[in-house]
Amino acid sequence: MKIVFATNNTHKLSEVRAVLGEGFELVTLREVGITEDIPETGATLDENASIKARYVYERTGLDCFADDTGLEVEALNGAPGVHSARYATDGHDFAANNRKLLRELNGITNRRARFRTVISLIRGGEELQVEGIVRGTIATEESGNEGFGYDPLFIPEGYDHTFADMSADQKNAISHRGRAVAELGKALKED
Ligand code: IMP
Repeated sequence: MKIVFATNNTHKLSEVRAVLGEGFELVTLREVGITEDIPETGATLDENASIKARYVYERTGLDCFADDTGLEVEALNGAPGVHSARYATDGHDFAANNRKLLRELNGITNRRARFRTVISLIRGGEELQVEGIVRGTIATEESGNEGFGYDPLFIPEGYDHTFADMSADQKNAISHRGRAVAELGKALKED
């Protein structure tokens, strides 16, 4: 089954492929000729996922899905949240984002946080949303070389090491995106 995943991020693509398994041919934005950045003007993850999926559907008419993820830190009132990609700078600078997060949490003992992924699926013109959440804490220093983004700082609940210390398979099994994609898989297979 052919379906457009509104991303060009190869990390995400391989994570989602691994969770969805055989039977789904995932096509990237580049492969359907969308090379421009899709504007993410929503105030919430839910709005942004929907904006991206509708953008792709309007231009291609193909079944598609888009995700939006944020790291929500309790002591920072849910920040960086919808601004996770551009927390420190305008340009997806993971290292700078991690440094800023450590600075903002300096001296704060409540390190509770969660990753939340929202996926908007448009199939036959009908839209539905699923989400996935993983709870955890923010470490006091970075650890690990796997993954991307805030992975070196995020310790999932029940573990004593960060996402960046885990293999892709271990992370996928418990991650926000892994859980959201599992829900997506259920929705796709129900039809
Ligand atoms: P996006 O909506 O998936 O592009 O995610 C927005 C931002 O959240 C990314 O630029 C990363 O900084 C962060 N992020 C998303 N997913 C992950 C993850 O699995 N691990 C660590 N950081 C992530």
